[in-house]
Amino acid sequence: MQEIKKYVEENKERFLEELFELLRFPSVSADPKYKGDVLKTADYVAQKLKEAGADQVEVCQTAGYPIVYGEKIVDASLPTVLIYGHYDVQPADPLELWQTPPFEPTVRDGKIYARGACDDKGQFYMHVKAFELMMQTNTLACNVKFMIEGEEEVGSNNLSIFVKENAERLKADVVLISDTSMISMENPSIETGLRGLAYMEVEVVGPNRDLHSGVYGGAVANPATILCKMIASLHDENNHIIIPEFYDKVVDLSDEEKKALNSAPFDLQEYRDDLNIKAEWGEQGYSTLERTGTRPTLEVNGIWSGYTGEGAKTVLPSKANAKISMRLVPNQSSKEIAAIFTKHFESIAPDYVTVKVTEHHGGEPVVTPTDSVAYRAAEQAIVDSFGKKPIPTRGGGSIPIVALFEEELGIKSVLFGFGLDSDALHSPNEKYDVYNYYKGIETLPLFHKYFAELSK
Ligand code: BES
Ligand code: MN
Ligand code: MN
Repeated sequence: MQEIKKYVEENKERFLEELFELLRFPSVSADPKYKGDVLKTADYVAQKLKEAGADQVEVCQTAGYPIVYGEKIVDASLPTVLIYGHYDVQPADPLELWQTPPFEPTVRDGKIYARGACDDKGQFYMHVKAFELMMQTNTLACNVKFMIEGEEEVGSNNLSIFVKENAERLKADVVLISDTSMISMENPSIETGLRGLAYMEVEVVGPNRDLHSGVYGGAVANPATILCKMIASLHDENNHIIIPEFYDKVVDLSDEEKKALNSAPFDLQEYRDDLNIKAEWGEQGYSTLERTGTRPTLEVNGIWSGYTGEGAKTVLPSKANAKISMRLVPNQSSKEIAAIFTKHFESIAPDYVTVKVTEHHGGEPVVTPTDSVAYRAAEQAIVDSFGKKPIPTRGGGSIPIVALFEEELGIKSVLFGFGLDSDALHSPNEKYDVYNYYKGIETLPLFHKYFAELSK
């Protein structure tokens, strides 16, 4: 531990400067405008892996953005840790809400502000630096493989092909991922579940052209009104989703599991104050932690129709659109839920409109084990580094690759995240505490140490 702390202390500034360099690449995978930048980011990651001491470093081409691979095999008899992360980021807009530009990382009040600071550049880069530390101090206790992808934020479509084709190369005993959050630095925690996702887009079409809202209004259905009604009909008065078959495969937690989940430190008033809301919302009969961690949801992610420019235009729009996604829990299947949604949404369309439903990407939910050697290694690493046993929690977000690793390679993951929910992932002014960055770099070598020891 002392040796680790010393190495981090001596290299602090460089560790931060390198992360800043990484954060300066606008690697937005969703927007083709940034293609050149995304590709440059992959090259930078590869170069940094090489410098840290990885062998076989390769920028692996896919039909989309490349996957950066690197490894250090010390001894075939030692356990192997596969580190997964993503170098792509979400779009930064709305730009005007950023206090400092999203791709010009700035430290204010001990926090690094930049798009990707926490999700996931700041977090996966801790692994690169922890690896460097273990190489330099001759303490690498496990074989290590890195797989850093560039399409996580757009659904990891090409990753599944890569995983299938490289099953041998990716063979490992555990997948280690830092792309989730902790409750707080005082209450360290490990997420032991992620929700799945089914992402849909709908279009409601009325008349064959935009109409004068005075000449036709009142006599022709307005697609925007119809779309709103259709969307509003998807939840009942208890905020339960009323799509037939939607909950069929959802299993309720046992009373014991519920108790454990709700015993995590959580202050509802703080939660409200942080978001500036007077009251929270959600499915009747479930606590906030249950709602985000264990229940499926349906959200409108975007909605548009008619005139939204300056001033006023009296128009009855010809069509209305929305992006709608559903978070899924075990044992719901993304494909099945997409089909169930499509069928239902088409069935509730009144005769005066036609609807079209299309499917975007999806992902499967997972629950990760808390009785595995890898989980115990993570737990012990946290105990050493934070002086406290981590609390297992259920995360509300999705990392589709986790289920895929289980299915394709038979490897379970440990979600070893050091972010905070308040890090504003996907929002303006995303941040990552400098403290968390260094704390992560200090804690990760302990995971490798304990994983090797406990695997014996
Ligand atoms: N790192 C997040 C997921 C996450 C965040 C999990 C916080 C737990 C806590 C990841 O980059 C992400 O944003 N995933 C997407 C899904 C993807 C298919 C676009 C998500 O959850 O919306
Ligand atoms: Mn992420
Ligand atoms: Mn994300």
